[in-house]
Amino acid sequence: MLNLQNISKSYRGRHGAVQAVDNISLELQQQTVTVLRGPSGCGKTTLLLAAGGLLAPDKGTVSLDGESIYTLSQHSRAKLRAAKIGFVFQQFHLAPYLTVLDNIMVPTLTNSPSLRLNSRQRALNLVERFGLTNRLNHLPDELSTGERQRVALARAMINNPGLILADEPTGNLDEANAHGVLDALAEFAAAGGTVLIVSHDSRAANRYHRTIHMVNGKLTTEE
Ligand SMILES: Nc1ncnc2c1ncn2[C@@H]1O[C@H](COP(=O)(O)OP(=O)(O)O)[C@@H](O)[C@H]1O
Ligand SMILES: [Mg+2]
Repeated sequence: MLNLQNISKSYRGRHGAVQAVDNISLELQQQTVTVLRGPSGCGKTTLLLAAGGLLAPDKGTVSLDGESIYTLSQHSRAKLRAAKIGFVFQQFHLAPYLTVLDNIMVPTLTNSPSLRLNSRQRALNLVERFGLTNRLNHLPDELSTGERQRVALARAMINNPGLILADEPTGNLDEANAHGVLDALAEFAAAGGTVLIVSHDSRAANRYHRTIHMVNGKLTTEE
């Protein structure tokens, strides 16, 4: 479903180049949650961005359902992303001037009219599932960090994508909410989805199907 083939990405800064991702190949299967672990700065976020069509690698190919996403035009890639990929950013990137409900519905704005019909109901279902019912009309800066994290996850799920990429989705959650998010991702995978999460949370590593480790831009071991 998602296939990374010999991906490399370096950043050129004032202090020279940093090889953030160094020749990584990885295949992610449906019905599987893969947990990516590794020390800060080893390249996890860079790998996730490249996998999600948000950052073109210097080398290598990323294919989603057999389609090489970086050979598409920017417009086609954006459409593919909206339809097929839910992304949860480490810093959430919620729109500060939109309510919880409207933030969750942002990805539906580019849907065709028929797909938009029940998007409000889908958003309300996610709101309920993530315990945000009494925050429906709040703005992001009126929310706790954990609440923002759950809004970001609901937004990632609203279009029923096939693939969810999430950067530390339980990093700011208490026990009960972390369980809620991990359950939601497990259910999503059980229903046929593909999930890759960056997580240091041992609860995630323990319960999911596959854990991969990254050091210095490379994948090392797999459990
Ligand atoms: N936009 C950027 N410009 C320059 N260097 C960057 C940029 N983003 C990340 N890096 C560097 O690339 C390396 C990997 O970063 P990142 O992918 O964010 O790692 P992780 O998510 O594992 O902490 C780090 O050394 C980081 O400083
Ligand atoms: Mg990171």
